[in-house]
Amino acid sequence: MREPTKTGVDFYTQALDTPLSSQTESILRPHSFEDFVGQAKTLERLRIMAGAARKRQEPLNHVLLSGPPGLGKTSLSFILGKEMGTNVRVTSGPVIEKASDLAGMLTNLEEADILFIDEIHRLPKTVEEYLYSAMEDYRIDIMIDQGPNARSVRLNIPRFTLVGATTRAGMLTAPLRSRFTLQTRLDYYTPDQLLSIVQRSCKLLNVPTDEPGAMEIANRSRGTPRIANNLVYFVRDYAEERSDGTITRDTAHKALELLEIDEQGLDEMDKRILSIIANTYKGGPVGLSTIAVAVGEEPDTLEEVHEPFLIQNGFLQRTPQGRIISGKGYEAIGLSGTTGAQQNELL
Ligand SMILES: Nc1ncnc2c1ncn2[C@@H]1O[C@H](COP(=O)(O)OP(=O)(O)OP(=O)(O)O)[C@@H](O)[C@H]1O
Ligand SMILES: [Mg+2]
Repeated sequence: MREPTKTGVDFYTQALDTPLSSQTESILRPHSFEDFVGQAKTLERLRIMAGAARKRQEPLNHVLLSGPPGLGKTSLSFILGKEMGTNVRVTSGPVIEKASDLAGMLTNLEEADILFIDEIHRLPKTVEEYLYSAMEDYRIDIMIDQGPNARSVRLNIPRFTLVGATTRAGMLTAPLRSRFTLQTRLDYYTPDQLLSIVQRSCKLLNVPTDEPGAMEIANRSRGTPRIANNLVYFVRDYAEERSDGTITRDTAHKALELLEIDEQGLDEMDKRILSIIANTYKGGPVGLSTIAVAVGEEPDTLEEVHEPFLIQNGFLQRTPQGRIISGKGYEAIGLSGTTGAQQNELL
């Protein structure tokens, strides 16, 4: 689990990146490849693998899904389960503390089941080693007892599929990574893809929407379906309370202003990060942990949740010396567009 934000931001802002309750998530979750918008390459790869495995009547090969939070990794693993007609068991890296936890889970699987391990990069290293033989040979050797009675017991496990999800593919060890037949990365969604997602969600929730209204939400969703859906919920509430219940451009605009989400999708935390680099550290370079302390957030959360979007969209640069704000970053916080590096050269 990601650390909760400690910045005292209000509920909706904080909720932008946290999962909705499981019940509402399940309404909006895409349930088939056809429902799933975007990620064409990943979808094509998974379709091919699932189709071939089904024809051969074999379990699907192991798959690693990586990418920033909220882009659809969990949804894809459920879709794979449905396509293959198998159960999906869900767990997460930090929850599996000991080899025996893992052994318990694996031995309870049925043939061809999918074991979904979220945040697989946070699996303890001691547990990870047991996964190697489980993934490769469908067996696991665990030690029981201690001292002179210690002995190793071999457990055979059903042929299963491991679907690993991670926000930090780079943190996986090479031996673990190489055991996934397919490693595929999810990217941020384009505004048009997000528009389809927003329109789909509004339809499922029976919220009347026009296209400019949906586009306004799509444009400010930081390329992330989960954020888009959370914004749909807030804008729906706003439209019901302050207007006639229809999501139009005007209601969406006002609702998102209230959440302090700007035209480019930057939220309060993004702007605080940029302001600190610009104002306190003269544009950078400044180290991640320094920024983290300054904004009152965990370094991991900054690196996994906030930075990827800022970097990919050119607001921020990562250099060996630290983070540097770009001209676009300065503009986003209403300052003139010199980059940190340029400014330092002027000093
Ligand atoms: N391609 C998509 N099309 C439509 N809706 C989507 C798509 N991807 C994600 N969503 C919506 O976004 C929500 C979040 O997706 P999901 O839980 O699969 O993300 P995730 O990558 O597992 O995130 P995390 O890393 O935070 O666990 C889903 O409930 C679903 O409603
Ligand atoms: Mg998930």
